[in-house]
Amino acid sequence: MIRKIAVVGAGTMGHGIAEVAALSGFEVALIDVSWDFLNRAKERITDSLNKLAEKKQINDPNAVLQKIEFNTSYDIAKDADFAIEAVPEKLELKKTVFKTLDSVMGSHAILATNTSSIPISDIAEATGRKQKVIGMHFFNPPVIMKLVEVIPSKYTDQDTVDKTVELAKKMNKIPVSLKYEIPGFVSNRIFIRLLQEACREVEDKEATIEEVDSTARNKLKLPMGLFELADYVGLDVVVDIWNVLTTRGTPDVKCSMFKAKVEEKNLGVKSGKGFYAYP
Ligand code: CAA
Repeated sequence: MIRKIAVVGAGTMGHGIAEVAALSGFEVALIDVSWDFLNRAKERITDSLNKLAEKKQINDPNAVLQKIEFNTSYDIAKDADFAIEAVPEKLELKKTVFKTLDSVMGSHAILATNTSSIPISDIAEATGRKQKVIGMHFFNPPVIMKLVEVIPSKYTDQDTVDKTVELAKKMNKIPVSLKYEIPGFVSNRIFIRLLQEACREVEDKEATIEEVDSTARNKLKLPMGLFELADYVGLDVVVDIWNVLTTRGTPDVKCSMFKAKVEEKNLGVKSGKGFYAYP
């Protein structure tokens, strides 16, 4: 029985996952390293809940917000039954978070990671409950996007998979349950390959960024162009996923645009500039 969910990391994904959990009726503990991040997350959740209330999808945004406790201390995760980690894509950082969760949470609790590309088994090895560690991968914005990938590691037991799938359904999501942890899972293998080809076309001057994006919208029927989506996801995140995939066997293509943008600190929507400008 899952009553309370701890979410670690209150950034782009974490604040949205906490919101989804609260909207689904769970008590939520949202943890980050600084009150600045937590206060920003509270503002973003409030804005999003107000939008849902304006559209009459919820009645009382404040009642949903009240379900979320914000703190920099892991103490608020002590009585949680399920944790979802959404900190930056750095293995050592994730291992530290998992070690801490493992030490504070009850032995029954499941520990999930929202990683887009790091092997779940590597993260699980930081804990003393490897069979209860799993991937639960949400998409941005979590409150709108229906898909959730559920990814077992080589250690995850069936009960953990079943409970995670059930939780995703309770959150009104559509779970796609992978048999094992293929690099990039299902979605990012496809996404990075699309970006590779888009990048090659632009760098070989076969098409412009705008032409590729128009094709993605009007032929592939994606809600955003590919470069626009990369900006939305964050170009640093895209490069991290791209690197993990190519080091783990996905054939690479010659493409310098993405890495160059990250080196220039043009990370997309979050920095105000990527392939497009976001004033
Ligand atoms: N909270 C509440 N409502 C929100 C919201 C939020 N955070 N964000 C958007 N909305 C609502 C808007 O209010 C709007 O509602 P109405 O249509 O009723 O007015 C609706 O969603 C659409 O939003 P917008 O009008 O602002 O803009 P849009 O039509 O372009 O939609 C979008 C925005 C939902 C993000 C859409 O462009 C989209 O689906 N884009 C693709 C997103 C995607 O593919 N995400 C996955 C990225 S990959 C990833 O996250 C994982 C990884 O591993 C990298």
